[in-house]
Amino acid sequence: MTEESGSAGSEERRSSNDASDVVRRDRFSGGPARGFLSSMADDERIFAADLAVDRAHVVMLAEQGVVSEDEATAILSALDEVESAGFDALPDGEDVHAAIETAVVGRAGDVGGKMHTARSRNDEVATCIRYRLREDVLDAVEATLGLRKSLAEVAEGHAETVMPGYTHLQPAQPTTVGHYLLSYEQAVARDTARLFDAYARVNRSPLGSAAFAGTPFDVDRERTAELLGFDELVANSMDAVSTRDFLVEVVAALANLATTVSGLAEDLVVFSNKGLVELSDDYSSTSSIMPQKKNPDTLELVRATAGDAAAGLNGLLTTLKGLPRAYNRDLQNATPHAWETVDAVSEAVAVAAGAAATAEWDEAALAEAAGEGFSTATGVADLLAMAGVPFRKAHEMVAESSEKVSKRNENVAESNVKASYLDALDAAAEEILDDSLAAYVEREAVEAALDPAESVASRDSTGGPAPESVAAGLTAAEETVAADEAALADARESLTAADERLRTEVSRYA
Ligand code: ARG
Repeated sequence: MTEESGSAGSEERRSSNDASDVVRRDRFSGGPARGFLSSMADDERIFAADLAVDRAHVVMLAEQGVVSEDEATAILSALDEVESAGFDALPDGEDVHAAIETAVVGRAGDVGGKMHTARSRNDEVATCIRYRLREDVLDAVEATLGLRKSLAEVAEGHAETVMPGYTHLQPAQPTTVGHYLLSYEQAVARDTARLFDAYARVNRSPLGSAAFAGTPFDVDRERTAELLGFDELVANSMDAVSTRDFLVEVVAALANLATTVSGLAEDLVVFSNKGLVELSDDYSSTSSIMPQKKNPDTLELVRATAGDAAAGLNGLLTTLKGLPRAYNRDLQNATPHAWETVDAVSEAVAVAAGAAATAEWDEAALAEAAGEGFSTATGVADLLAMAGVPFRKAHEMVAESSEKVSKRNENVAESNVKASYLDALDAAAEEILDDSLAAYVEREAVEAALDPAESVASRDSTGGPAPESVAAGLTAAEETVAADEAALADARESLTAADERLRTEVSRYA
């Protein structure tokens, strides 16, 4: 083993272990492309998965009489040694599967060569990726739950805190911080659901498909699936080794999640710019030259993570597009897109949760901003429409009055603005309805509609910002969070149970 290898830790590998790769043997042992071919650096992530897959496979082979109990014992104890020695002690190899097999043969002798009976690296790697990805998807689910809980908690504390709501980033209608935060809780809840949905299709076993064409050995695919905690099989052996659609599903769900969260991050960047919210120091940074600066860097990076996730999805789809059946080595390059995306998005979601939980909403600034830009105008039009004025005419009256008043009163005290607004509305009624405003609504009712808090309280439709609607939204959010937490615990428990089952089976051969 004197060849160049691009894989991590290969320096130590060559000096500490000079066993040759049992898969490549001498013919494919070297050459300038060796490092290029290797997936060793990325494969550290599936080291534990491969050991589990090897154990389940060997236990099944012994149960089926394909290898003897003694042979299984020798292989399984070599696997224990390989596990204790750790990933960095593996001999060099094209990938972790070849390296572990080489190490097993090195420790157990020829009998180690029986481990790979009735399988291929093609079903092996597909199984390892699914095995490991399950954990990562559940971690991502947990991150979404953390974010949802902090959003709901802050929403509860600010259920009645009036704030400006925007469309086109222009002041549009007043709402509450509670209503606003629950809008993201609900969106992230769908991201959780999409991750769970993807999880169900990740959690299927391709093992026993061999290269793609099955095997003449009497393998028990259900048994290895059970030992590894998979809920069902990817039955067709050609599909089982070829497909990476489960990676696409997971990465798409993550890209969607990252996109949702990037909107939240952007809002908080804008709101802190307007002085409506202040980020905690823990989630801010400063400038290396301007000492007074407090910048929302963490949220900017959260926002940018959506770009990374979209790139991951694009990289994955582009790599997979047009691949012929069955296994092609391109698939080796598809996998890291999933690892990178799941790590980046889970971390960003956790950071967003922390930033949202610790940000301070400035109630006075929010109340003041909530009334800016005639944000209650729609409420006045609604009031007129409720009194029988066709909404389109009401819209016209309010638009005309708002326009007049905003032109005339740029530097006038708020009470005076209100008064001249009512006068303008009176005039608009005469002009557009040929009637007095009083024939439709009381002046006091219009004044109330102009108040942001009253305006919010009046919008009590399902899912609206009125306190009772927000309270109902909060209850629903808490229920969904609890149900999702229970589903997460169930999924984790069933993986732990499978792990214990496998350990128990393996220990019979000690
Ligand atoms: N390292 C490979 C991968 O990630 C494992 C499968 C190799 N199979 C093969 N036929 N060369 O896809």
